[in-house]
Amino acid sequence: MFIIKLNAIDSTNSYLKRLSSKEVVKDFTVAITNYQTKGRGQMGTQWSSQDSKNLMFSVFKDNHNTKVEDNFYISMVVAVSILEALEAFKIKNLKVKWPNDILSEEKKIGGILIENVIKQSNISASIIGIGININQTIFDNLPQASSMRLISGRVYDLDEVLHLILKKLKHNFRLLNQKQFGLLKNTYENHLFRKDKPSTFRDSEGELFSGFIKGVSDSGNLQVLIEDNILTEFDLKAVTLLY
Ligand code: BTN
Repeated sequence: MFIIKLNAIDSTNSYLKRLSSKEVVKDFTVAITNYQTKGRGQMGTQWSSQDSKNLMFSVFKDNHNTKVEDNFYISMVVAVSILEALEAFKIKNLKVKWPNDILSEEKKIGGILIENVIKQSNISASIIGIGININQTIFDNLPQASSMRLISGRVYDLDEVLHLILKKLKHNFRLLNQKQFGLLKNTYENHLFRKDKPSTFRDSEGELFSGFIKGVSDSGNLQVLIEDNILTEFDLKAVTLLY
């Protein structure tokens, strides 16, 4: 496995994207940095992180065996790998808030940004960006953010956490290649935040409604049991989970 260490960069995802447009990048090439000047989050948001306190890295994954319609399984592999790694560091009450925010004690400690390279309607590769708040203790204006250190009181070695996440990613991508879809989905759904609890959502028109999260579909939609016991599926643009 190749690990490219960068002191500072705009974004490790952007770096790997540029690299892969210029040369052939090997499967599981990792780009990691101490600091990002233009860290990117999901849906065009920013991802900011103090210098050298947290993990910010991207993995180039050859995914030519994965069909476009199975693309949410890549997300599940990544979320499950992070959960399994952080569990081994004794981080409590780990959950995944659909689609892929990593929570501990109901606060966000990690995020995932996956950018797929599609060729001839297949996923040729994915750039998997992972940010985990590890030793940072102050999050200005981010009341929902936390870190492994704030949760456990311990200081962590960033490299140790990185290597365990990479090991879990290798294992779970192997399961995906073996088409162990049920196993991956079960592990993901077993950690799903607010599963089977009454929750409030906002739809794309701004209307609030309540329901019970039941799981996710193969295409990655959230399955919610709403009024009159109707199981409804929502995609990311159609719904926001409020509480
Ligand atoms: C989110 O929760 O919105 C996703 C955050 C993903 C952040 C990581 S940090 C490393 C990689 N490079 C980026 O610019 N973003 C991802």
